[in-house]
Amino acid sequence: MTSDVIITGANGQLGWELERRTKIKNRTAQAFDRAKLNITDADSIKRIIDTTAPKVVINAAAYTAVDKAETEPAAAFAVNRDGPSNLAETCSTNDIPLIHVSTDYVFDGTKTGPYNEDDAVAALGVYGASKLAGEEAIRGRHANHVILRTAWVYGVHGQNFVKTILKLAEKQSALRVVQDQIGCPTFAGDLADAILKIADHFLTDTLPADGLGTFHCTGRGQTSWCDFARKVFELAAPTLGDTPTVDGISSADYPTPAQRPANSVLVCGKLTRIYGITLRPWQEALAEMLENTLYRDSRTEKETR
Ligand SMILES: NC(=O)c1ccc[n+]([C@@H]2O[C@H](COP(=O)([O-])OP(=O)(O)OC[C@H]3O[C@@H](n4cnc5c(N)ncnc54)[C@H](OP(=O)(O)O)[C@@H]3O)[C@@H](O)[C@H]2O)c1
Repeated sequence: MTSDVIITGANGQLGWELERRTKIKNRTAQAFDRAKLNITDADSIKRIIDTTAPKVVINAAAYTAVDKAETEPAAAFAVNRDGPSNLAETCSTNDIPLIHVSTDYVFDGTKTGPYNEDDAVAALGVYGASKLAGEEAIRGRHANHVILRTAWVYGVHGQNFVKTILKLAEKQSALRVVQDQIGCPTFAGDLADAILKIADHFLTDTLPADGLGTFHCTGRGQTSWCDFARKVFELAAPTLGDTPTVDGISSADYPTPAQRPANSVLVCGKLTRIYGITLRPWQEALAEMLENTLYRDSRTEKETR
């Protein structure tokens, strides 16, 4: 069956939101989970592009286990470098635009102030390095692309920081959360909306001048993990009742296999200037995500009682 848009990584936070939104808006789109389309398999990409003949390809598939990547570099590079490279190759052969998602972790976090698209990259860990290699593979193979670097993604579907701390809150009355890393929380649904707006420009042949290339796309504003956690509990308190206290700690007090950038705040003005796209303040989007998550959870609980 042919489709205007195909989406990879359908079972991920972003892929799920993309698929949901394309259904709501009645776009002819098909979303493929890893079992149906493994992006490390170049032949299966070719087969699916031949049968679906899409006008746009959106890559939401990725290896996202930041810490695990330190001990599984081959797996991370296979998905995050070779996967996008395969997609770019086939998209180039068939002249199909490719929208790809990358990460704030391509930066080392040492800059004073937020990062622009053309700031020097220097990933601290394997995950960031593999995503950077994916960006480079696309740039080298297929000019007709948009790469969106995003950050601190959370959504209703899948695993993320917000869900993890809500789970911890069921058992603990106090949490210790890192306060010396700052970034931009991004709701997967808002990111999906931005991606589909860009896809629409390709579909309607209305791509703005300078619409190709690399863009930053995150929720508006910035915070630390610790203040992010505090905001989650502030917003969830009316539903949850008692919520844990959150104490700020330093990264040194919470060692992880992968080092993370202390500052990964991204400037998203280029996306606003060229596409007119600006994501909501992160707190607004978080409130909506929590309403959906907590309401859905409490409803499911009642229904199963
Ligand atoms: N999560 C974040 O905080 C964050 C931050 C910055 C940038 N990003 C980027 O944002 C994008 C979306 O991330 P996300 O949070 O939606 O990630 P996610 O929830 O981990 O979803 C990634 C999806 O990719 C799938 N996948 C893994 N290997 C694959 C392969 N070889 N072929 C096809 N699919 C494969 C996974 O399949 P399974 O479900 O089978 O595992 C998963 O469903 C990614 O490019 C990520 O690097 C994320």
